[in-house]
Formats: sequence, C-alpha cells, structure tokens
Amino acid sequence: MVSFKALVTTALALIPSAIAAPADTSALVARQNSPWQWWTEGQGQFSCQQQGGGKYSCNWNGKSGGGMVAGTGWGAGRKTVRYSGQYNPKGPGYLSLYGWTRNPLIEFYIVESWDVLAPGEPWTLRGNYTSDGNNYAFYTAQRVNKPSIEGTRTFTQYFGVKSEAQKTVGSVSGTITTGNHFDFWSSKGYRMGNFEQNMFMVTEAFANGTKLPSGTSTITVS
Ligand SMILES: *[C@@H]1O[C@H](CO)[C@@H](O)[C@H](O)[C@H]1NC(C)=O
Ligand SMILES: *[C@@H]1O[C@H](CO)[C@@H](O)[C@H](O)[C@H]1NC(C)=O
Repeated sequence: MVSFKALVTTALALIPSAIAAPADTSALVARQNSPWQWWTEGQGQFSCQQQGGGKYSCNWNGKSGGGMVAGTGWGAGRKTVRYSGQYNPKGPGYLSLYGWTRNPLIEFYIVESWDVLAPGEPWTLRGNYTSDGNNYAFYTAQRVNKPSIEGTRTFTQYFGVKSEAQKTVGSVSGTITTGNHFDFWSSKGYRMGNFEQNMFMVTEAFANGTKLPSGTSTITVS
C-alpha cells in the first residue's frame, strides 16, 4: 500500500531526496488539489505523462521498494466518473478511484482492476453490494500513525473492490457512480467525511517483497 505517494505530485517527483523528508501537512493538502498526481519512490523505471483531455499514460518497471502513483484528478464527491483505456499490470498495484475525506479522516479507494492485490494492512470484509451493474466487496483497514493529508494520523481506509469475475485487464472501461459506494459504506457504519480534496483515477504500482510491479496503462477519464 503506497497511499502516501498519492499525496505528492510532480514537484516532489523532480526532487527525489525530498520524498523522505517529513511531510509538511499544509503543502500536502495543497498538492492534493492538483489536477494531476505523479509520484514515484525507490528504484525502477517509472514514466507517466498527461496527454490532455483527462488522458494519461504510464509505463513502469519497479525494483524492490519501488513504486508510483499517477492519475487525473478533479473535485471529489458524489459524481459519475467514466473511464476507458488499456491497463496491463503485472505484480502489485491497482487501477482505482482514490481520494480522502476529513471529519472523519478517511482514505478511500474504488478498485476497478489489478493483477495482484497485496494490501499493506489486513482487510476486513464488511459486505457486498452492486453499483453500475457490477458487484463490489467493501473492506476496511486501519492505518496506525501513517502519513495522511493531516500529517501522521491513525485513520480508516475504505476499499470498494470490484469482483474478480467482473474486473478486466487489457481493455478496461467503466462507470463509477461514487454516491452508490458511499451510501453502501455508510449503511455499514462507515460514513464519509467532508470532501475537501480532489479525487483521482490512478494507476498505482508498488513492490511487495519479491513481487515486483511492471506494466503499462493509458487511461482517459471524464
Ligand atoms: C505484501 O503482501 C502480503 C501478502 O498479500 C501482505 O501480507 C503484506 O502486508 C504486503 N505488504 C505490503 C507492504 O504491501
Ligand atoms: C463478497 O465478495 C467477496 C470478494 O469478491 C467474496 O469472496 C464473497 O464471497 C462475497 N460474499 C457474498 C455473500 O457474495
């Protein structure tokens, strides 16, 4: 799990030594409102570019400890998000809609595709639901004293994960009505807070032990 990466955008990616520095919370909050996330850590070859019109493309080949997050962002909340393109991952990572709320502080993911799911913390299944014709499982995980948009905090992660049977790799497309997800999560006692940051349709890749990430993606969101 490399959620901290998604907090940081191009500026820091150009200054690798800055990544290990303690996070300045106000700066993280400001960056989270960027329309574009692009962050790498550790060793490997990572390349992502914005191509205009909500389109981006990536290719990656991570070594041990290496990872990246890239994606197009816009104001978070109850929206219908459409995406399409090509996603060809090997190893750990996700194609997901990703964001944060405050009060409560929540990091959320709607995971649309993957090769290897390798969560950093144990996931607890809270229920199953459907949205936009797809089945999802809702998991939560607890992060203890980890980086967040409010600095180092203990907070809950919410994951809506598309069923293995319905996810595709290669050609991908989908519609995500975020309110359906938020409403189900809330019905299980896991409500959203305030949407003060952007959310992003991200390609995230990370190494987990000997499982190394590689792949390509070209994703357009609207
Ligand atoms: C790596 O994957 C294993 C097995 O899924 C998991 O138990 C572990 O927490 C993962 N570690 C990280 C840092 O993602
Ligand atoms: C809920 O989803 C998970 C993951 O796809 C699956 O393993 C489980 O069987 C589902 N449970 C029900 C009741 O459908």
